[in-house]
Amino acid sequence: LRRQVGLMTLSLFRLKEEQLQLVKARMRSGLDAGLRSKSSSTIKMLPSFVYLTPDGTERGKYLALDLGGTNFRALLVRFKKQTSRLYHKIYTIPLEIMQGTGEELFDHLAQCVCDFLDYMGLKNTRLPAGFTFSFPCEQSAIDTGTLVAWTKGFKATDSEGHDVVSMLREAIKRRNDIDLDIVALINDTVGTMMSCAHEDQRCEIGMIAGTGTNLCYMEELKNIEKIEQRMCINTEWGGLGDDGCLDDIITLYDTEVDQNSINQGKQRFEKMTSGMYLGEVVRQVLLDLTRRGLLFKGHVSETLKTPGIFETKYLSQIESDRLALLQVRSILQQLGLHGTCHDSIIVKHVCLVVSRRAAQLCGAGMAAVVDKIRENRGLDHLDIAVGVDGSLYKLHPHFSQVLKETVRVMAPQCDVTFQPSEEGSGKGAALIAAVARRKRDV
Ligand code: BG6
Ligand code: GLC
Repeated sequence: LRRQVGLMTLSLFRLKEEQLQLVKARMRSGLDAGLRSKSSSTIKMLPSFVYLTPDGTERGKYLALDLGGTNFRALLVRFKKQTSRLYHKIYTIPLEIMQGTGEELFDHLAQCVCDFLDYMGLKNTRLPAGFTFSFPCEQSAIDTGTLVAWTKGFKATDSEGHDVVSMLREAIKRRNDIDLDIVALINDTVGTMMSCAHEDQRCEIGMIAGTGTNLCYMEELKNIEKIEQRMCINTEWGGLGDDGCLDDIITLYDTEVDQNSINQGKQRFEKMTSGMYLGEVVRQVLLDLTRRGLLFKGHVSETLKTPGIFETKYLSQIESDRLALLQVRSILQQLGLHGTCHDSIIVKHVCLVVSRRAAQLCGAGMAAVVDKIRENRGLDHLDIAVGVDGSLYKLHPHFSQVLKETVRVMAPQCDVTFQPSEEGSGKGAALIAAVARRKRDV
C-alpha cells in the first residue's frame, strides 16, 4: 500500500501526450493573444526593437553587461573579420542587494562595471555598451525599457515602472569616475539568439532554461504593425498559467511552491519548469512523502523543512546515470538528509519525474512556437535553429534530451536544432550594440 501511495504521488507529474497537446494549444493561444493585446494575455510578447540577425560585418570593441539569473557578468567583446574575442569577469549579486532598493542594486552594478574597466585598463574610455537585463521590460526603443515586474529572486524596490537604462546611467553618473554609452537594452533570450545567429543564420529563436525560463523568436511585423519585416519578440512565456489555464496539471506541490515564493500567482509555467523552483517542487514532494511515513522513516528533519536546499546542481547530480545509489545517498547525507538506499531510490525518482515534466512542458511550448513560425511563413516544413542557454539546459543530465524529443514528437513538421550558446548572451548583446550604433550613426 505504501508503495502504491508513493506511486500515485509521482503519477501526478507524468503528463500524457493529450495533456502536453493541451499545453501546446494554450501556449499558442497565449502567444496569439499577447500579440493582439498585451493586457488580455499572461504572455507579454514584448517587442525588442531587434530587427535583424547579425550579418558578420560587425566590427569594433564593445562592452556587454549581463544581469542574468545567478550572476552579473561584465564582458569586453572585440569583433574582427571572421572572429570575435571575449574577456569577462563574473560578479555575484548578494541577496540583500537583489531585494534591497533599486538604487542600491544599480549602484552595485555600476561598481562592478567600474571594477571591470579598471581590470581591463579601460577606465578612461567611453565604450558603446549592450545591457542584457533578464527581466520583462516594456521597450519603446532599442535603448529604453521600463521594468514591468521583477521575476526570479529579485525584488528591489522603486524599480518596477522605471526605465532601467536611465537607472544604470544615473548610477554611473553618481560615481563620476567612469563613462558608458549604453546603446542597447536586451533580454537574455534575445542576446542568446543573436550570439548563436552569429554562427548559424538559421537561428531565429532564443531560449533560456536556467534560473528562469523564457523564449524569444523572430515574428513577422505584418502580424504586429503591417510591415513586411521581422522583429524579435520576447515572449516572457514563464507567465503562462497566471490566469489559471494550467490548473488541471498544477499539483498541490506546485501550489505550495507558488505560495512560498516572492511573487505569488505569477510565473506559474516558470515555477514548473526552471532551476530556481524545481528543487523546491522536489522538496515539497519529499516533505509530503515523509509526513506520510513513506520516506526517511517518517522523520521530518529541519533540513527537509529548509527552503532552497535542493539547488538545481543537486538535482543534476542525483539524476546522473553515472552515479551509483551509494553516491546518491552520500549527496543526500551532505545535504543533511540521512536515509537508506531505498530512500535514495525514491528521492531519485522524485527528481526524475519533476525534471522530466519540466522538459516536456518546455518542449510543448517550443512546439507551439515553431509551428507558429512555420504557419506565419506559409510553409509545410520548417528548418530552424534555437540558441539556448541556462544552467538547467547545460548542466542537467536529461533535460536537453527530453526537450528535444518532445519537440520532435509534438511539432513533426519542424526540424529544430538546438545550439547551446558558447559564450552566454554577452556576445549577442555586443552584436546588437554594434548594429544599434551603426544605425544611430548613419
Ligand atoms: C548566461 C547568459 O549564460 O545564462 C545570461 O549569459 C542568462 O544572459 C543565463 O541569463 C541564464 O542562466 P542561469 O542558469 O544563470 O539563469
Ligand atoms: C525570467 C525573466 C525573463 C528571463 C528569464 C530567463 O522569466 O522574466 O525575462 O528571460 O527569466 O532568465
